[in-house]
Amino acid sequence: MHLAEVVGRRRMVRRYRPDPVDPAVVEVILDTARRGPSAGFAQGVDLLAVTDDGTRHRIAELCDEPDHVAGGRDPWLSVAPVHVVPCVRPAAYRARYAEPDKAGGRGPGDWPVPFWWIDGGAALMLLLLAAVDAGLGAGLLDVADRHGLRELLDIPVDVEPLGVVTLGHAAEDQPASSGTRRARRKLSDQVHWQRW
Ligand SMILES: Cc1cc2nc3c(=O)[nH]c(=O)nc-3n(C[C@H](O)[C@H](O)[C@H](O)COP(=O)(O)O)c2cc1C
Repeated sequence: MHLAEVVGRRRMVRRYRPDPVDPAVVEVILDTARRGPSAGFAQGVDLLAVTDDGTRHRIAELCDEPDHVAGGRDPWLSVAPVHVVPCVRPAAYRARYAEPDKAGGRGPGDWPVPFWWIDGGAALMLLLLAAVDAGLGAGLLDVADRHGLRELLDIPVDVEPLGVVTLGHAAEDQPASSGTRRARRKLSDQVHWQRW
């Protein structure tokens, strides 16, 4: 598939078939996701992959799946066979920008936003696109109980999880998300040439 087709096919997938995913395919997806840019090439993004049944069910609870199911939605996380938690580690950036070739220049204290979030977003997008390229579906969601997720997965205090990405074989009947009712902004409205 060409990149434009991969991008065009990507949707947040919230309903999966329970079939397992080939671990070698998951490895390829994770390897692709870690190849994004990073400020100072600090490489402060980590990917935590979970396939264990019990742990995935516990993550589903921490994301309030039982409440969503009680409210009439389909189960999402408990069915998806692979969960990936992309994480960023700000300390990696502070250490990198203290190295001789960076010290004295512009660093984390000067950034308009902490660049680790930008790097995390780049990794997240690669993860979603690599899943599509592998013929799988992927979906991102916010974690209701972040503290619980940290405890469950032994995430160190100086590491920030971005959310949970589910990977798996997409079910054919995807639910319409609230986002699908919104029209995509027009190209001419969103892209600015020469000046705003
Ligand atoms: C930072 C971020 C957080 C999101 N959190 C959730 C979430 O908690 N639950 C969910 O169902 N979708 C979540 N989404 C998915 C968006 O709703 C979705 O990307 C948007 O509606 C556009 O649909 P598409 O990605 O399928 O094109 C999130 C997306 C982003 C970028």
